[in-house]
Amino acid sequence: MMMLGLGSVGLVLLSLAVQSGHGAQDSAVWSREETTERNYYTRYHNMSEITAWMEQMKRENPDVVSSMVYGQTYERRNITLLKIGLRSTERKKAIWMDCGIHAREWITPAFCQFFVKEILRTYKTDTKVNEMMKNLDFYITPVLNVDGYIYSWHNESTRLWRKSRSPGTGGCTCYGTDLNRNFYANWGMVGVSTDCCNLFYCGTKALSESEAWAVTDMLGKMREDILAFLTIHSYGQQLLVPYGHPNTTAPNHDELMEVGLGAAMAIKAVHGMDYTVGTSPDILYPFSGSSQDFARLIGIPLSFTFELRDKGEHGFELPEDQIQPTCEEAYAGAQHIITYTHDKAFYSYAATVTATLWTTLLAAWVSSAILL
Ligand SMILES: *[C@@H]1O[C@H](CO)[C@@H](O)[C@H](O)[C@H]1NC(C)=O
Ligand SMILES: *[C@@H]1O[C@H](CO)[C@@H](O)[C@H](O)[C@H]1NC(C)=O
Ligand SMILES: *[C@@H]1O[C@H](CO)[C@@H](O)[C@H](O)[C@H]1NC(C)=O
Ligand SMILES: *[C@@H]1O[C@H](CO)[C@@H](O)[C@H](O)[C@H]1NC(C)=O
Ligand SMILES: [Zn+2]
Repeated sequence: MMMLGLGSVGLVLLSLAVQSGHGAQDSAVWSREETTERNYYTRYHNMSEITAWMEQMKRENPDVVSSMVYGQTYERRNITLLKIGLRSTERKKAIWMDCGIHAREWITPAFCQFFVKEILRTYKTDTKVNEMMKNLDFYITPVLNVDGYIYSWHNESTRLWRKSRSPGTGGCTCYGTDLNRNFYANWGMVGVSTDCCNLFYCGTKALSESEAWAVTDMLGKMREDILAFLTIHSYGQQLLVPYGHPNTTAPNHDELMEVGLGAAMAIKAVHGMDYTVGTSPDILYPFSGSSQDFARLIGIPLSFTFELRDKGEHGFELPEDQIQPTCEEAYAGAQHIITYTHDKAFYSYAATVTATLWTTLLAAWVSSAILL
């Protein structure tokens, strides 16, 4: 139901026409539609546009959106995340999401932008999103591999760039390390290459890349608070769970599978697309040194890799007319995981609030009964 209205200016206009007496809320929707162009979320955007968009999100939602620079790329560009949540005096739990770790996977920054747009659009009216914005902060990096992403926009021959942009060492003249093989998680053991010209080059050592280091540093600082880690890739229509190394099993493997299968069902319900769930040795190929595995290894319980559309017909060059449906279904999948995570952590808290509310209502009813 909600999905029907996503990004649909037609529906917004219709609801404006129908409800043209209810001022404040509608004009807030309207002004947001006005500042980003109508079809903004159905197109791919280069890095300078995404940077400007991040500033716009902060400007339009100063009470819930802030940004943080948490590292620099090889070419000395800032790595920036958006922190989204309702302010609280208490220390909050967190959800991590990063996009654009592999440069050519253009649908992924588009998804992070869509995700941010949707939670900001709905949190005032959707009670569940509102509750999660109160209890959680979302840490969202729209583009992690900034150098690589910019390079992939350079010209047609660089469109399929995957890696970072650091130069090879020791006489190797190719560029780039596969950032998702560079993390401190069974680094260099399986599904990697030590040839700097290879697509899956894992670097000279774990965390040789400043981009992988930046994420590691943030996760280390926030380890106690992060309940779920979502890293977004394409393509293949899969939800991967730890671990990528074939001889290790996550202690909560069953939970990860159950939540992942629930997310795949939520995805299928939106546009009928099938997503496969499993560890990468089971459904893709084994590989070590991924951020997903690192997150699980340091104790973040729910760690997932999304591989968005499609299954290879267009691959990394997913046509723009598939951006919106891909994002809609992936949003439903992500929401399933985040809702599960939230309810698991806050169920007892929510029960307390409900009990308090009933006590208050009962007291009000009793006192009004006495007055009457
Ligand atoms: C990014 O895209 C915008 C809009 O198409 C364009 O005006 C701008 O020149 C591009 N910037 C870069 C650095 O390519
Ligand atoms: C990078 O981030 C730093 C610290 O937030 C800021 O001072 C600087 O202006 C940023 N650089 C660019 C190019 O945006
Ligand atoms: C694309 O850019 C690269 C790097 O600047 C350059 O070497 C190459 O010739 C360009 N290719 C095309 C098709 O323009
Ligand atoms: C996994 O264990 C098997 C059996 O002990 C061994 O042959 C294989 O090399 C191991 N795989 C890796 C990637 O270490
Ligand atoms: Zn990828």
